[in-house]
Amino acid sequence: MAPRSLLSATALVARGVAAVTLSVASSGGNATSGLQYGLMFEDINHSGDGGIYAELVQNRAFQGSTTYPSTIDPWTAVGGAALALDNTSVPLSSALPTSLAVTASADGIAGISNPGWWGIDVLASSTYSGSFWVLGDYAGNFTARLVSDTANTTLASATIAGPAVADSWTQFTYELQPSADAPSINNSLVVTFDATSGETLNFNLISLFPPTYKDTPNGNRVDLMEALAALNTKHFRIPGGNNLEGEAPPYWWNWTTTVGPLVDRESYVGTWDYENTNGLGLVEYILWCQDLAVEPVLAVWAGEYLDETIISEADLGVYVQSALDELEFLMGDASTTWGAYRIALGYEDAFSIKYVEVGNEDNLNGGDASYVDYRFAAFYDAIHAAYPDILIFESLSDLSWTYESAGQDYHQYTLPNYFVGQFNFFDNLPAGNPIQVGEFAVVQNNTANVDTGVNWADPKNPWPYWIGSVSEAIFVIGMERNADRVWGWSYAPLLQNLNSYEWSPDLISFTADQSQTVTSTSYDVLKLFGNAAFTSTLPADTSDDFGPAYWVAGEDNATSTYYVKAAVYNSTEDVGFNVSFDGVASGATASLTVLTAPDGYSYNSIGSTAVVTTTSSLTADDSGAFSFSLPNLSVALLSASA
Ligand SMILES: *[C@@H]1O[C@H](CO)[C@@H](O)[C@H](O)[C@H]1NC(C)=O
Ligand SMILES: *[C@@H]1O[C@H](CO)[C@@H](O)[C@H](O)[C@H]1NC(C)=O
Ligand SMILES: *[C@@H]1O[C@H](CO)[C@@H](O)[C@H](O)[C@H]1NC(C)=O
Ligand SMILES: *[C@@H]1O[C@H](CO)[C@@H](O)[C@H](O)[C@H]1NC(C)=O
Ligand SMILES: *[C@@H]1O[C@H](CO)[C@@H](O)[C@H](O)[C@H]1NC(C)=O
Ligand SMILES: *[C@@H]1O[C@H](CO)[C@@H](O)[C@H](O)[C@H]1NC(C)=O
Ligand SMILES: *[C@@H]1O[C@H](CO)[C@@H](O)[C@H](O)[C@H]1NC(C)=O
Ligand SMILES: *[C@@H]1O[C@H](CO)[C@@H](O)[C@H](O)[C@H]1NC(C)=O
Ligand SMILES: *[C@@H]1O[C@H](CO)[C@@H](O)[C@H](O)[C@H]1NC(C)=O
Ligand SMILES: *[C@@H]1O[C@H](CO)[C@@H](O)[C@H](O)[C@H]1NC(C)=O
Ligand SMILES: *[C@@H]1O[C@H](CO)[C@@H](O)[C@H](O)[C@H]1NC(C)=O
Ligand SMILES: *[C@@H]1O[C@H](CO)[C@@H](O)[C@H](O)[C@H]1NC(C)=O
Repeated sequence: MAPRSLLSATALVARGVAAVTLSVASSGGNATSGLQYGLMFEDINHSGDGGIYAELVQNRAFQGSTTYPSTIDPWTAVGGAALALDNTSVPLSSALPTSLAVTASADGIAGISNPGWWGIDVLASSTYSGSFWVLGDYAGNFTARLVSDTANTTLASATIAGPAVADSWTQFTYELQPSADAPSINNSLVVTFDATSGETLNFNLISLFPPTYKDTPNGNRVDLMEALAALNTKHFRIPGGNNLEGEAPPYWWNWTTTVGPLVDRESYVGTWDYENTNGLGLVEYILWCQDLAVEPVLAVWAGEYLDETIISEADLGVYVQSALDELEFLMGDASTTWGAYRIALGYEDAFSIKYVEVGNEDNLNGGDASYVDYRFAAFYDAIHAAYPDILIFESLSDLSWTYESAGQDYHQYTLPNYFVGQFNFFDNLPAGNPIQVGEFAVVQNNTANVDTGVNWADPKNPWPYWIGSVSEAIFVIGMERNADRVWGWSYAPLLQNLNSYEWSPDLISFTADQSQTVTSTSYDVLKLFGNAAFTSTLPADTSDDFGPAYWVAGEDNATSTYYVKAAVYNSTEDVGFNVSFDGVASGATASLTVLTAPDGYSYNSIGSTAVVTTTSSLTADDSGAFSFSLPNLSVALLSASA
């Protein structure tokens, strides 16, 4: 594809102020379908468990592995009880063999306490729903309480009637309704029983959920889901990138171990340094997509572990079959083996999968030769034959190869100047298969030499900085102009638990305390643009060059709205804009939203937002033009009714 010549010409400087004049036509853009704004989740250590997944209890089922052995941590004893991990002769299930034996040291109250994932947000407005399993001969009642560890007060309490019996596990459920908000995040769940000295009860799968988003069972945190929903995205790649691949044999993300009742889900040695509960499993990921009204991009394991172990061509068949089974599980009807299994699990209606990605970054870790040689084709051919309407993406993240009509997935972690320099990257690609920019973000500061790119030996930025967010806006504007070739994008990673993580910067950061959630400067930019999604781009007649101002025009045909998205970077002066839209007359009004920040290294953090949002109403002048100016390091959206 040739550079978009219609959109570029020579610079125009009027009265010492750089100015851009755009005359936007009502039709004729190349990108006749809009760019798909998206999400990409990577569980960078407790953005899943302890993060978006709403379970409040940390280490609820003592799951472990050789890599991360079962532990009692962070449970503590109540009433002087002795705690020990115990593989009872009657396991709760084969998936959850290890339980917590609680032995009373005296007559009276004995039990266990859990501080949550670095705290538990206890709010009077919420009803908390819990359950736990017990093995042991016990006729009395149990008590479940939420307590404030700072105030040493009970926030909510429930009495749960026994009995428990010695030869099989009994499940108990309870609800907790706090009468007031906790004074701090430092709260615990306490489960006790009325013991006689020396008595032992075994506990397992001790769970507590706050209300979840859309009340989805086993679902997600409301506040984080609301922050994701506000981005107004269209797709979501699940279940992650590196986490899909697995660190080393035998740990790849085998979907079959992530479905069914929690009691039957064994844990997974996650790639990001912890034992995943698998509470956030395949169905939960799909429901997460449904709750946000976004299309899943279902990533399937492609036969390469991160430690460079690669499945041979002869042995690949079972993994291809696993991917086919997964699609049958999600989409099959009752006459199919796996569709019937889904229905038996309570999901009567088939899910819909329109997009599949085979692997993640298979050009890395020595994967490219086998991927190109046989791995991708094995998956593509089988899935394409069974589901010809699914758009299948390959995962070589450098656009180095294409296969038949497969989509591509381009990843770019870089510096601000690099993204600005890559504004025309997609203009200059030859026509070809659809491209998903599946991961992109600025991760370090500019260096003297833009070509150096990221130095992975240096620390990454702790937060998105404003200069990076503006450069990301410019890169997105470049994609948007080429939405005929660029199918969609997703910033990555999405979510960061500030108490435990292995990658920054991230789009949204959080702790257990809902009032501490940080939506980053990049979030602000992508939210502004995402809520002005184009159904097509529009040609903008101009005599001006891109830089220091960058722009794209488009429309949403459903709301008959014209948009111009713009950003200014590295300008010594404000840039004037003079924008007219075909058919919009003198006296018409438009809305202009401008994002700025005190300086390029400003960032949003707990309790403070650096981004300044200014919204104004503009009136078209006698020539039908809307005039405004944008300062250095700004991002803007102009919208007018067509
Ligand atoms: C709006 O745009 C979408 C995407 O390009 C297209 O599928 C649809 O047909 C258009 N609708 C109308 C009414 O033009
Ligand atoms: C329970 O069984 C697992 C798996 O065999 C083993 O690794 C672990 O050490 C056992 N734990 C205890 C407390 O016996
Ligand atoms: C258990 O709780 C119920 C209801 O609160 C109460 O009636 C009963 O006396 C309790 N049983 C024991 C053994 O404390
Ligand atoms: C919670 O409160 C207890 C008791 O005051 C204290 O020992 C502990 O350090 C606190 N934990 C946190 C995370 O603040
Ligand atoms: C907390 O309160 C209980 C009584 O409700 C009391 O027995 C205990 O000593 C208190 N703990 C602290 C650390 O103050
Ligand atoms: C995935 O896990 C299931 C359940 O443990 C197992 O039966 C199956 O063989 C695994 N699939 C592959 C391809 O290893
Ligand atoms: C920023 O502007 C200066 C002066 O016009 C120019 O030399 C430099 O290349 C620009 N940097 C970028 C990243 O565009
Ligand atoms: C990036 O630059 C800012 C502003 O100078 C500085 O505060 C920050 O520490 C830098 N980040 C790194 C990782 O060096
Ligand atoms: C990841 O989480 C585990 C707890 O599950 C913690 O022990 C470990 O230190 C964390 N790793 C990093 C790098 O934060
Ligand atoms: C559409 O593509 C053609 C060919 O690449 C190009 O000349 C033209 O400028 C493009 N138009 C728009 C509005 O991007
Ligand atoms: C634009 O703003 C950034 C951040 O404040 C600053 O570093 C840069 O020098 C400014 N550009 C120009 C050309 O003034
Ligand atoms: C905007 O551009 C039009 C067409 O070039 C011109 O007539 C009009 O005066 C301009 N308006 C401003 C405020 O510069």
